[in-house]
Amino acid sequence: MILALTSRRCLARALVFFFALAAPFAARSAEPPGIFLTWVEDPLRSMVIDWQTVASAEGQSLEFRERGVRDTWESAAAAALPFPFSDRTIHRVHLRNLSPGTEYEFRFEGFERIYFFRTMPENNFAPLTIALGGDTRHRKEWMDAVNIQAMRYDPDFIVWGGDFAYADGREDRLYRWYEWFDSVRETLITPEGRVVPILLCIGNHEVRGGYIWGADRGDDGYEATDAFRASIAPYFYSLFAFPGQPGYAALDFGNYLSLIFLDTDHANPVPGEQTEWLRRALAERQGLFGQILPVYHVPAYPSVRPFEGRVSQRVRQHWVPLFEEFGVRFAFENHDHAYKRTLPLRQHRPSENGIIYFGDGAWGVGTRDVRPPEDYGYMALAKSVRHAIIMTLQAGHATFEVISENGEIIDRFPESRSAATSAVSD
Ligand SMILES: [Fe+2]
Repeated sequence: MILALTSRRCLARALVFFFALAAPFAARSAEPPGIFLTWVEDPLRSMVIDWQTVASAEGQSLEFRERGVRDTWESAAAAALPFPFSDRTIHRVHLRNLSPGTEYEFRFEGFERIYFFRTMPENNFAPLTIALGGDTRHRKEWMDAVNIQAMRYDPDFIVWGGDFAYADGREDRLYRWYEWFDSVRETLITPEGRVVPILLCIGNHEVRGGYIWGADRGDDGYEATDAFRASIAPYFYSLFAFPGQPGYAALDFGNYLSLIFLDTDHANPVPGEQTEWLRRALAERQGLFGQILPVYHVPAYPSVRPFEGRVSQRVRQHWVPLFEEFGVRFAFENHDHAYKRTLPLRQHRPSENGIIYFGDGAWGVGTRDVRPPEDYGYMALAKSVRHAIIMTLQAGHATFEVISENGEIIDRFPESRSAATSAVSD
C-alpha cells in the first residue's frame, strides 16, 4: 500500500517535471492566445495587427512580406498595451504604405505559424464580401457555429455592431473575453492562415451600467472625456484599435464604401457632439461613395423590444433624418437578438425609396421571440434565428444573403425573380 502510494507520488512528480520542461517548447510552437486584425485608416493600404502574449510585456515584433513575391522578411516593432485585469499583454503593429488588393504574410516573434491578410481593392469591380451582425457571445459554441457559416463565404472582413463578450466592463468576467478571442482564433482564420479583419462598434454590454446614464450615474453623471469613457468601458477602449476615442468614426474604402460606426448612448450620447459629427461625416461623403453604411447597436426599428424604447426614439429623432437626407440606403442594427429586415422606410413609413434596416444582433446569443411583423407596420421579415448577414458589394450594387448557424439561408435581398413570381402566384 505504502509502496503503491509512493510510486504514484513519484509518477505525479515526474509528470509535473515533464510538463514543466515541455511547456516552454509547446508555447513556442503554439499560436498566441489572441490575434486580432482591424483598420483605423485606409483599408486599401494599411492593417493593424494585434496579438496577445502572457508574461512577456515588452519588445515584441513581427515580420511581414508580400505573399508569394518576396523572399526576405521586414521587421516591425510592436507597441505593448495592457489587457485590463489580465496577465496578458497586447502587442500592436500598424502597417502602412501597403499596396491595395495585395496579400501580405506575417509571423510573430516566438511563434511559428505564418498567417496572411488581404488589403482591400482599389476599386469595386470584383465582388466584395462582408459578414455583418452583432451580439456575438452568450455561448462560445454559438459564436463558433455562426463564425464557421460566415467563413464559408470567404468574407473580406467582418463587421460586428456591439455586445461582444458580455463582460460589461467587469473584472470577474475577464474569462468571457478569453473565450471570445479563442473563438476568433479558432474559427476566423482559414486553414491556409488568412486572418479575417474585424471592425467593431460599442454596445451596452461593453459598458458598466450599459448606458451613459448607467445605474450608479444618472443622467448628469456623464463626462465627455477619454478618461471617463475608458473608465466605464475599460475593455472596449483597450482591446481594440478601432474605433478608439471617442468611440464613433468613419472608415472609407476607396470611393466605393464608407462605414459609419456609431455609439447608441453607451459611452457617447446620441444627441449633441456625436450627431453633429454624423451630419458632417455624411455631408462630406454624400454622392462620393457607392454605399454609406451606418452600423450601431440599439435599433431605430426594433424587432423585439418596444418601438417607444428611450434609445430607439433618440436614434429615430437624431440620426434617421440625417440618414434620409444624405443618401443612406442600408443601415445595420443589433441588440434585439433576432433577425430582421425592415421594409424600405422614410419618415418611419414604408416608401419605395426608403432605407432598409437590417438586424437585429443574434450572432452568438440566445434568441428572443419576435413580435408579429404586422404589430409594427415597418417589418418585411423577422425571425428568432442566430445568423450572419452576408453582403456582397459590386460596383456600388449590394445584395444580401442571410445564413443561420445551421447553414440554412433564411433571407435573400433583393428577393430572386422566381421567389417573387411564386409569391405572387400563391
Ligand atoms: Fe445589447
